[in-house]
Amino acid sequence: MKLQEIVPWGRTLEEYVRMFALTPKDLTSKILGVGDGPASFNAEMTAMNGQVISIDPVYAFSAQQIEQRVQQTYPAIVDQIRVTADGYRWDQFKDAYELGQYRLTAMKRFLSDYPTGKQQGRYLANQLPTLPFADRFFDLSVCSHLLFLYSKHLSEQVHYDSIKELVRVSNEVRIFPLQTLEGEQSPYLDSIVKALTDESIQVDRVPVAYEFQRGANEMLRIRFAD
Ligand SMILES: C[S@@+](CC[C@H](N)C(=O)[O-])C[C@H]1O[C@@H](n2cnc3c(N)ncnc32)[C@H](O)[C@@H]1O
Repeated sequence: MKLQEIVPWGRTLEEYVRMFALTPKDLTSKILGVGDGPASFNAEMTAMNGQVISIDPVYAFSAQQIEQRVQQTYPAIVDQIRVTADGYRWDQFKDAYELGQYRLTAMKRFLSDYPTGKQQGRYLANQLPTLPFADRFFDLSVCSHLLFLYSKHLSEQVHYDSIKELVRVSNEVRIFPLQTLEGEQSPYLDSIVKALTDESIQVDRVPVAYEFQRGANEMLRIRFAD
């Protein structure tokens, strides 16, 4: 991945809790954050004695390089959201600017934790569909705003292989959202749910208390059937 291809945009622990319906018990479990990028999830969890490892190809870059890229891309992202504001619900944020400030705060929180977290092995430069972890190494994997959202960029086969890999390394997998960037349900969702179900993997669409992109208010929960 080249630095110029990266569009950093990071969410917070509070948002992860709502997107993935994380319970107090979930928060004490061993978690893999998949494609966490510049989210402050890992930093905030670590400050609360949580156990999170984040993987993302962007972690091949230094804090300075990621920060530079945040500064370069931030105005255009806010502008893009402003122009397409009708596609979003504005109950939490007043407007694109306020949302942008919230994201910037999250990214700054990430950047201040990143050098230490990298040394501690909490930020690993890896990418789906292949991960360097033993079977069932994690209790839970969470994947925010990557799989299904980027259906135009990642093929159905990559989605399937990625989910199978996440099921291998963790007892449970949660993915949010199920919508594409264009706001439609991912064209891969139904066939992937069927393929996993045919393999005796339990898959549930679970409504969650998070909706920013209109209509995107469900996560996929995947685990081996009891
Ligand atoms: C839209 S960002 C979401 C960041 C964070 N999860 C959040 O919700 O705030 C998508 C992230 O996925 C990462 N990514 C792209 N391809 C990936 C892959 N194959 N495996 C893991 N992460 C990937 C990108 O580098 C980027 O940081």
